[in-house]
Amino acid sequence: MSDAALPKWVLGIESSCDEMAAAVVEDGLRVRSSTVHGQLDVHRPYGGVVPELASRDHARTVSQVAESALRAAGLTPEELDGIAVTAGPGLLGSLLVGLSFAKALAWRFDLPIVGVHHLAGHLAAAEIAEPELRRPYLGLVVSGGHTALYRIAEDEAPQVLGETRDDAVGEAFDKVAKLLGLPYPGGPSISEAALTGDEAAYAFPRPMQDRPGFDFSYSGLKTAVALAVDAAKPIDARSRADLAASFQAAATDILVTKALRAAREHGLDQLAVVGGVAANSRLRSEMERHASADGIRAFFPPLELCTDNAAMVAAAGAKLLAEGECHGLELAAFSRVPLADAPWARR
Ligand code: KG4
Ligand code: ZN
Repeated sequence: MSDAALPKWVLGIESSCDEMAAAVVEDGLRVRSSTVHGQLDVHRPYGGVVPELASRDHARTVSQVAESALRAAGLTPEELDGIAVTAGPGLLGSLLVGLSFAKALAWRFDLPIVGVHHLAGHLAAAEIAEPELRRPYLGLVVSGGHTALYRIAEDEAPQVLGETRDDAVGEAFDKVAKLLGLPYPGGPSISEAALTGDEAAYAFPRPMQDRPGFDFSYSGLKTAVALAVDAAKPIDARSRADLAASFQAAATDILVTKALRAAREHGLDQLAVVGGVAANSRLRSEMERHASADGIRAFFPPLELCTDNAAMVAAAGAKLLAEGECHGLELAAFSRVPLADAPWARR
């Protein structure tokens, strides 16, 4: 970590997908408030996020959400030392709402503003929640849009070791939930349905698990589940639970095997698992069990810091501000941008 002093009060704004979130973080690591406004009711009828509806709802709620985070922290905007905002990757329309609001606030109160890479935010969640987590470590990012392994070291750009070649693991949870007639978002519905299922009922493939390298692939697993669902129709509660449990086991086994092999091969004895899928209880328990057998410490942020939130953005942004990064009102939103390439993600 840089020696420069961390700013006292940073407001974080996150709106890259279907959560409008704002948070205040003190000294770059203490979460003083965190407000998340979800849009489940908006998107549920469509079984997934509708980008146009997401950005419209963000525009409706952004100022209330930011105000509520400031109020909960007992601060006025004048007392802030900086603003951190997710600048990408994500849905462009959604990102632009948070970004425009953050710029307006920065301009009005003459505050420095930094753009944060969404995945740098997810990784910062582990760093603030787990003071024992020290760089270098292996970062496994598992969310609705990403499945990737990074080597995170001090004073170096994050190094991508592997990533998905097709679907993200969270996307696979969401698509399989739809196939099973379970409500959106799929991750929590699948893990709940799996509680009463037998994970050995279906022998689903674990694509790429035993291949060299650290890339992932989830589309073949999703197709295998689709075929099994068709063959099992009409689906009753028992087979739905078995299909959910067997899918969840395959999807999470791949992550455990690949992450621990990457840690061993790269000589890293600490692993941080972040992003929405890090909330999955089977992933948490299996990763912890196998990691400790391998002498590797696995860290997971608390559940509220796994799924999208703005505390992670404020924490990542505070660090950038301390390093002298400041992006000004010309800061642009990027729908796709690799973690290592984003100028604001540079360490
Ligand atoms: O990080 P996140 O909130 O948003 C993105 O950046 O994508 O991740 C959302 C993803 C969704 O695909 C959701 O189904 C998944 O995380 N998710 C879960 C669980 N909770 C959320 N997946 C598996 N098990 C869960 N308990
Ligand atoms: Zn996310």
